[in-house]
Amino acid sequence: MLDTPHPTPAGVTLDERKLAAALSGLHFIGGRYVPALSGKTFEVVNPATGEPVAKAAEGDAADVDAAVRDAARAQKEWAKMPARKRGALVHQCAALLKEHQEELARLIALETGKALRTESRVEAGVVADIFEFYGGLGSELKGESVPFAPNVLSVTVREPLGVVGAIIPWNVPMLLMALKVAPALVAGNTVVVKSAEEAPLAVLRICELMNRVLPPGCFNMLSGFGPECGAPLVAHPLVRKVTFTGSVETGKIVAKAAAEKLVPVTLELGGKSPMIVFADCDFAKTVQGALTSMRFTRQGQSCTAASRIYVERPIFDRFVAEMKKAVDAMVMGDPLDEKTDIGTIISPGQFEKVQAYIEEGKRTPGAVAHECSALPKDPALKKGLFLRPVIFTGLTKESRLVREEIFGPVTVIQPFDDAESVLAEANDSDYGLAASLWTNNLKVALDLAHRLEAGLVQVNQNLVVQANLSYGGVKSSGLGKEASLEAMLEHFTHKKTIMVNMG
Ligand code: NAI
Ligand code: MG
Repeated sequence: MLDTPHPTPAGVTLDERKLAAALSGLHFIGGRYVPALSGKTFEVVNPATGEPVAKAAEGDAADVDAAVRDAARAQKEWAKMPARKRGALVHQCAALLKEHQEELARLIALETGKALRTESRVEAGVVADIFEFYGGLGSELKGESVPFAPNVLSVTVREPLGVVGAIIPWNVPMLLMALKVAPALVAGNTVVVKSAEEAPLAVLRICELMNRVLPPGCFNMLSGFGPECGAPLVAHPLVRKVTFTGSVETGKIVAKAAAEKLVPVTLELGGKSPMIVFADCDFAKTVQGALTSMRFTRQGQSCTAASRIYVERPIFDRFVAEMKKAVDAMVMGDPLDEKTDIGTIISPGQFEKVQAYIEEGKRTPGAVAHECSALPKDPALKKGLFLRPVIFTGLTKESRLVREEIFGPVTVIQPFDDAESVLAEANDSDYGLAASLWTNNLKVALDLAHRLEAGLVQVNQNLVVQANLSYGGVKSSGLGKEASLEAMLEHFTHKKTIMVNMG
């Protein structure tokens, strides 16, 4: 119900630079755009060119306090609204986001360097889908009746938790935000999001768009750095639930801070997801599957990326050769160009981190680095963070490249000889987010699907997160689930028992 004048264009805006500039220096709190209380800002850079495209408001504890207080005020009324009505409003937001899909896609491509055709447009579409899905679930916030005694009515009801503090990363910021905001709102909570410092713009625009439909204060957006803005959000006494997606390291800090206040926390952390390819697979489909599984189009910046590929020995050489050919055929270039398959790494820091892994791999005795695709030739992109995807062979399980999350366009392919040994290797990891199996042997597939230590196992496909399917890891990959009805019930409500003695 945005009634105050605001600096951003009202309609769909396909000029992403103009929109980025208009979003500069602002938070969205209590139904309106406001600058950071300190007046401070930091630069948002287009990683394809190195040019600044906007300045983001640099939030700190004072901005967090203002946003959380507004959210707490709004929550009282929001929770009183019939759940189905809340859902209907969230559904209306989904329709608005669909109208703005292309705009959001262009904006996210500008700030993250993710290719428009293969990634950014897809993400913007999934975001609308997530809000649409949860918008239909208002009346599923059901409790139970519990048999207790003939003269006692005993029921449970689902109640919201209050203000939710959500901290998101930069790799798929709109989607990962939607997985938190949509169920939180429908369940009757209000939300304060702290965006990732590398990608604050598209999520801010989404917040504004949704505030045209939602009552003020229900959905608020802050930008800023982790320790200065994220930490005070987690620690704020009025934040009654914390949900975080990002690194394991930061996840542990967040979990400790949430433990200090004893509030529930959901963590969606990293992965080192295995892809296991048996010789009896549908070969061509599996090579294509490996390309999508590895998220090469997202420069491998995905927690679910199949960064360890195990291939049964008889087809190993052929598989590596075909993979190399397929990745070579992918076009790296301007993220906003329709022809581009692969865009850029998000930031200089990540670029260096990934490069260091690649150098380490190349130095490892016995390793072969198959460098794929080609850097763009356009001089306008010469400062862009483009990195050729690398397929490594000849590395063993001791290598850091096989054990650690690289979060870049790097995958390691290793041969295997039997199902038991590959299962042991796949499970020999600190992570347990996702896994995929490629075989036409149903017995082997089902057996391994049950024994793989992962939150999500797919056979002969490797799709991205789906709104209605529970998603989340085991081991160091996280705590709790996202997406699905259960995630809303379990992580954004508490169950109250009410007993009425009618005797
Ligand atoms: P990060 O975990 O440090 O950042 C994620 C979010 O947490 C950002 O919004 C950041 O501002 C915030 N944050 C940082 N410190 C905080 C603190 N003390 N309290 C509260 N919030 C805080 O991840 P970063 O530094 O962007 O990337 C490092 C590595 O993390 C990547 O190379 C990748 O391996 C992994 N990662 C995994 C992701 C996933 O989807 N699971 C997403 C992003 C990164
Ligand atoms: Mg960090």
